[in-house]
Amino acid sequence: MKIPLSAPDIQEEDIEAVASVLRTPRLSMGPKLEEFEHAIARYVGVENGIGVSSGTAGLHLCVRALGIGEGDEVIVPSFTFVAVANVLRYEKAVPVFVDVEPETLNLDPGRIEAAITRRTKAIVVVHTFGCPAELSEILDIARRHHLCVIEDACEAIGAEYDGRKVGGFGDAGVFAFYPNKQITTGEGGAVVTENSRMASMIRALRNQGRTESDDWFQHSELGYNYRLSEINCALGIGQLQRIEAILSRREEIARKYNDKLRENENLRLPVLSVPRRKISWFVYVVRLSGAWSQTRRDWIVKEMNRRGIGCGRYFAPIHLQPAYQFASVRRTDLSVTEVQASRCLALPFFNRLQDEQIDEVCGNLCEVLYLAGSLAASG
Ligand SMILES: Cc1ncc(COP(=O)(O)O)c(C=O)c1O
Repeated sequence: MKIPLSAPDIQEEDIEAVASVLRTPRLSMGPKLEEFEHAIARYVGVENGIGVSSGTAGLHLCVRALGIGEGDEVIVPSFTFVAVANVLRYEKAVPVFVDVEPETLNLDPGRIEAAITRRTKAIVVVHTFGCPAELSEILDIARRHHLCVIEDACEAIGAEYDGRKVGGFGDAGVFAFYPNKQITTGEGGAVVTENSRMASMIRALRNQGRTESDDWFQHSELGYNYRLSEINCALGIGQLQRIEAILSRREEIARKYNDKLRENENLRLPVLSVPRRKISWFVYVVRLSGAWSQTRRDWIVKEMNRRGIGCGRYFAPIHLQPAYQFASVRRTDLSVTEVQASRCLALPFFNRLQDEQIDEVCGNLCEVLYLAGSLAASG
């Protein structure tokens, strides 16, 4: 790709930090993990941070630590990454898909209560594309129905709601550091929580169920290897130190895209600000106007890729995935999810994207939209 969809922002100091870990005998469960965990907890403003091998691992451990198991129902959006529902199925719990708001594409609080049953145990609140969900209403519903809340902040590190960082509102919050994220550890994730008992359980579960009081090779619980290596943590520490600059550059890129594409009537652009919230820009996703079919959108994606410009569908709803056709799930009316997902189109978006590259992406997109429009007109 001439201009990829995403790219990590790796500096010389990151390379040096990783190399210096490789010169030590401690490549896992060492001082960098501790430093990274403290740094994440401090950044979010919570008591405990636990490094894990991925965002998925973090979500799975939250499900386990909250005792969510067979037959328990958990409310989740379908307009998100498949991991959100997968971690429930690992434990034989039932994902209950609830629709999203058309503007922010986050769980619609107005539709949650109708989906709650005697079996409902929790809500997974995803901060889609880095825009915080309507937390005060969702937390209020959870409180009234005695439900746990897992905040999936995998796409939203640094985002804020009412001036507080997301991740710290629920029983636990989860971040992900895959290379397309705002900051990366290569692969990796972190769980944050104010609940120290839950933090100890998660620490044990990520390390084969070995609790703090267990002896060497003694395992009190059934656990996993979800550890995060010192190499990943060294990279994460440096990235987290630069996060303010990274987030403001990403916001600047989103503004530039909006400025350049504002005139194109075939597009609905992402909103740059939402009341009570600070967005942490994860991806830049535009939506095609209502008159265009999904086939046309897919053609546009293909044509952009053919021109060397990374472009992708974000997201294909979970309930429509082949892996979910025979799964034990419950769904409510998902018409907003289905319609909006068929119109979404992600454009190249990463910290080091240059202004000339933004011009090139927008120029090509406008041309491709024009072509797609004339193809549509001629049938
Ligand atoms: C909303 C959401 N949840 C969970 C994950 C899973 O994170 P990971 O890929 O690190 O397992 C992602 C990753 O993109 C995500 O976007």
